Amino acid sequence: MTNDQRRSAYLEEIGIGPVWKRRSVQIEAVPEPKPRPEHIVEQPVAAPAPHDDLLFEPAMPEMETHGSSNYDPAVIARMDWATLKETVSGCTKCDLCRNRTHTVFGVGDEKAKWLFVGEGPGRNEDLRGEPFVGQAGKLLDNMLLALGLKRGDNAYIANIVKCRPTDAAGKDRPPTAEESAACIPYLQRQISLIQPSIIVALGKTAALSLLNLRPDTPVSKLRGTVHTYADLPLVVTYHPAYLLRSLTDKKKAWDDLCLAMATYGR
Ligand code: URA
Repeated sequence: MTNDQRRSAYLEEIGIGPVWKRRSVQIEAVPEPKPRPEHIVEQPVAAPAPHDDLLFEPAMPEMETHGSSNYDPAVIARMDWATLKETVSGCTKCDLCRNRTHTVFGVGDEKAKWLFVGEGPGRNEDLRGEPFVGQAGKLLDNMLLALGLKRGDNAYIANIVKCRPTDAAGKDRPPTAEESAACIPYLQRQISLIQPSIIVALGKTAALSLLNLRPDTPVSKLRGTVHTYADLPLVVTYHPAYLLRSLTDKKKAWDDLCLAMATYGR
């Protein structure tokens, strides 16, 4: 299957394929995204965030460190790739280290212009040590293809937390605000090493954690706006696992990708 065929398959899957086929033309390239300048929030560095009322600053939690750990945010902020990977793989900063099989550091092109940030590893990712390897990962790969990207080629995929959060029954759960805050220095360092041109936050956990927003902020309130994270544009879309369950929101996810493309194009 060629990339164009895959892109068409993704568009079909999200329910807008017939729109592109109506004129019986072969789609050669990603269509021009809809201009949405009214939604772009231009933020000078010192300007207040667009959602001041939603801001949330989780205090760095006092967490028990299990065993030995090199955890020190100031030191992490200066690490090179190799040291960072090694430090993450041995991290014992929070309780999530207790049940992990593997840490899930991130995957992709370390010089990528596009960074996609998810929530945290699930069961499959914990077993494989790689982000987004299940059904949600397949959808994410299709979303990348729709943008003309693929894993490892101008795209990097990471998560807010590097270890799988589970509930008392051993099922996947979202990370707590404290677990996210404990892990975020690793992602911050990844971002400063990668230096992407754009960040796409996949779902609520990623968006709230990167933008420091209150836990009750709905994703719907964050979509359609270009946010800023450390001077980089950040676009929020739905988490692929949610999109697998909510077919009607796939069209909105496509709008988000168009917004991200338009922002990247600038
Ligand atoms: N969901 C996520 O947010 N990240 C993964 O790596 C897998 C599922």
